[in-house]
Amino acid sequence: MTAGPTWEALDPVRGLSNHSSGKMGYAVAAAARKAGADVDLISGPTALSAPSGVRLIAVRSADEMMAAVQNGIDRCDIFIGVAAVADYRPAHAEESKIKKNDERVTLELVRNPDILSWVSAHHKRPFTVGFAAETNNPLEYARAKLASKNLDLIAVNHVSNQNNPFGSDQNQLVVISATDESDLGRKSKTQLAAELVGVIARKFHERHKTQNS
Ligand code: CTP
Repeated sequence: MTAGPTWEALDPVRGLSNHSSGKMGYAVAAAARKAGADVDLISGPTALSAPSGVRLIAVRSADEMMAAVQNGIDRCDIFIGVAAVADYRPAHAEESKIKKNDERVTLELVRNPDILSWVSAHHKRPFTVGFAAETNNPLEYARAKLASKNLDLIAVNHVSNQNNPFGSDQNQLVVISATDESDLGRKSKTQLAAELVGVIARKFHERHKTQNS
């Protein structure tokens, strides 16, 4: 699984990132471990320590996160993408600190790879779970992402003034599959993670049963 933000360097001391604290992803990693899974947690920079029994693979950029995911894909039955991966990175990362010479500078950004889409298109496709944080029309966008990224499940939270999950210990999640949707409500990330892992395990076994029957 992936968690946390990514850090896209501009120069050795600066970069682009986002407000993901990693708390939701680390809670999912702990819950999956508790449920008996062997967990690789590929994480961007956070202030958190790895849950006990979970293998932490620390990365910074989306490219590094992608490389770590590609490295582990062959031994992965379930992939959960919780990371807030930067969609764009600076076209050039300077090797030395950028000096303040100009009144105005323009940043050129290039698209990062979509890690989750790469996983779901892999020939050994694991059971694939995505996350989405949306400020508008969360359910519609999440249903569209479930289809466009070819996911088994997507967990969506509505980011609003009433619910800003970034850095918080609480969150509000709805879990969507092609056939059903369940609102897990608003509660602690630890509790939500346990319930989400329960849904993932149930759906994973259902898929196995259908594939083997
Ligand atoms: N994701 C990923 N690689 C990316 C971007 C996103 O693996 N380069 C994953 C996230 O980990 C999450 C899911 O895709 O599980 C949804 O991320 P989100 O940022 O909501 O979707 P985007 O595809 O980036 O769409 P948009 O930003 O346009 O809403």
